[in-house]
Amino acid sequence: MSTGIATDPYFQQLFSDRIGGSNYGKGTAIYKFEKIKRAKRKALADYPHRELIDFGIGENDSMAAESVRQRMAEEINKPENRGYADNGIASFKEAAARFMQRRLGVQLDPVTEINHCIGSKTALSMLPACLINPGDVTLMTAPGYPVAGTHTKYYGGSVVALPLLAENQFFPDFSKISAETWERTKLLVLNYPNSPTGKTATREFYQEVVELAHRHQFVVAQDAAHMVLSFDQEPLSFLSIDGAREVGVEIHSMSKGFDMIGWRIGWVCGHSRLIQAFADVKDNCDSGQFAAIQQAAAFALDSDDIPNAVREKYRRRLQKLVAMLKSVGFQCEMPGGTYFLYTPTPAGTVGGLEFANAEEASQHLITEQSIVTVPWDDAGPFLRFSVTYVAADEAAEDALMAETAQRLKSLGLQF
Ligand SMILES: Cc1ncc(COP(=O)(O)O)c(C=O)c1O
Repeated sequence: MSTGIATDPYFQQLFSDRIGGSNYGKGTAIYKFEKIKRAKRKALADYPHRELIDFGIGENDSMAAESVRQRMAEEINKPENRGYADNGIASFKEAAARFMQRRLGVQLDPVTEINHCIGSKTALSMLPACLINPGDVTLMTAPGYPVAGTHTKYYGGSVVALPLLAENQFFPDFSKISAETWERTKLLVLNYPNSPTGKTATREFYQEVVELAHRHQFVVAQDAAHMVLSFDQEPLSFLSIDGAREVGVEIHSMSKGFDMIGWRIGWVCGHSRLIQAFADVKDNCDSGQFAAIQQAAAFALDSDDIPNAVREKYRRRLQKLVAMLKSVGFQCEMPGGTYFLYTPTPAGTVGGLEFANAEEASQHLITEQSIVTVPWDDAGPFLRFSVTYVAADEAAEDALMAETAQRLKSLGLQF
């Protein structure tokens, strides 16, 4: 009996238009991350003895702090943690409120102005359900994290991309938005510290956003997934700006700044009516994160040493990366935040190769020297280097930088 799908199943015609309708599962387009995976496999097959240097991973390389894992081990055995957590337990929301006050200077009511989420990805997927009707617009920065845009389209809305250009210091240029688009805009999704550009926000920028939100009557969702990884200034919350809590919410995550990426925990905070709407939608999607995880996360939120250590580790690694890349000709500087370096793509090689875009350059680095980066061509050709590579200690980091420099030099890159 054949196991392959020779003919379409009877339900091929039933797939919704939002995932491709009757063409679902038949696309041949290969997406960026799949291309990277294939190039990695080929590099490993062609050069089995050449170690892959992976700057492509967007996930923390360390486990959560030992004290947090220890706390989790205790919480997991408590009978009161066993059941549905629904919209969250009070102790997590209270710890999030303390964190917002202590680290970001934002005072929030943990009962009405904070709600947990099973990672910020899920929160970004649910917020459009609170606001978007067919025909509405979500403004999203590009390059960016696409989840809120995908769900906007699921609800019949459309996405207008705001390019983050180097010449605008990676801030969106709101003056380019037409009156007709403003009229239809319900939601603006921001993300600072920004992934992948590494830009941190300024008070002036956020003030402009608040003013625009009042003028054009839209809601702001500021994705703060990388919040504590802020290097050029103390972490800046959108909600610390005068008037911001009247226009939106901020979405926080324990994934990046607390090495808790697989634990799936974060929170949404801001205007109480928006939090209520989010909680209503969420209540129809999930039954809350395991209370033991919320308890361990609450413990982590009260332990400033944890995010401080994560931030300092990635700051150190980024500094080493920037120095190394500069030494081989890249024009880059220390990012303001995140664990990514976003740098203009080399134009080609001394051997006469020309890269048409970042994707070609990235493929060249993988296939020729087993160096993995992520290409971004949404707003000019850029390569993203992540410093979440695995290295046991500082000596291992230095050795990795030296090896990378040697391999990059051998390519004769031109800028
Ligand atoms: C900009 C941005 N927002 C949100 C997320 C989602 O994070 P999590 O769901 O782990 O909180 C990510 C993860 O890569 C991200 O880069």
